[in-house]
Amino acid sequence: MTERTLSIIKPDATRRNLEGKIIAKIQEAGLKIAAMKRKRWTRYEAEKFYEVHKERPFYNDLVEFMTSGPIVLMVLEGENAIAKYREVMGATNPEEAAPGTIRAEFAENIEANSVHGSDSPENAEKEIALCFDGAEIVG
Ligand code: CMP
Repeated sequence: MTERTLSIIKPDATRRNLEGKIIAKIQEAGLKIAAMKRKRWTRYEAEKFYEVHKERPFYNDLVEFMTSGPIVLMVLEGENAIAKYREVMGATNPEEAAPGTIRAEFAENIEANSVHGSDSPENAEKEIALCFDGAEIVG
């Protein structure tokens, strides 16, 4: 099934100039970039995006981190894009990420873990709608 998922290259990765290496892994996996933009989130945007984690102990630090520098937002498209991108990213905690995955190669720690990807079709739809206007998704 062709799906769309939301990807974010996080501030730890843009700071280290890793966008190209991360995008190469995404494209090598056969995922297509249907939309892409670079921006710096306001506190409000980061809080809204990570609202599901509001009660978690890492929430405030996470918002602080995600607003600490530029990010690259992408809509990725392809067969089983949600699961496929999660495979390409590797586990949230880089110590548990499989060799060759983005997080195993590039993440600094469980917070500064270089990338985000939607975890379900429902969240993918919500996250894409929150981050992109329909007209920005050009395929
Ligand atoms: P992400 O996939 O963007 O979803 C939530 C983010 O919170 C996660 O990646 C990490 O950047 C961050 N985070 C920090 N600490 C934790 C933790 N203990 N468990 C899960 N996520 C964490």
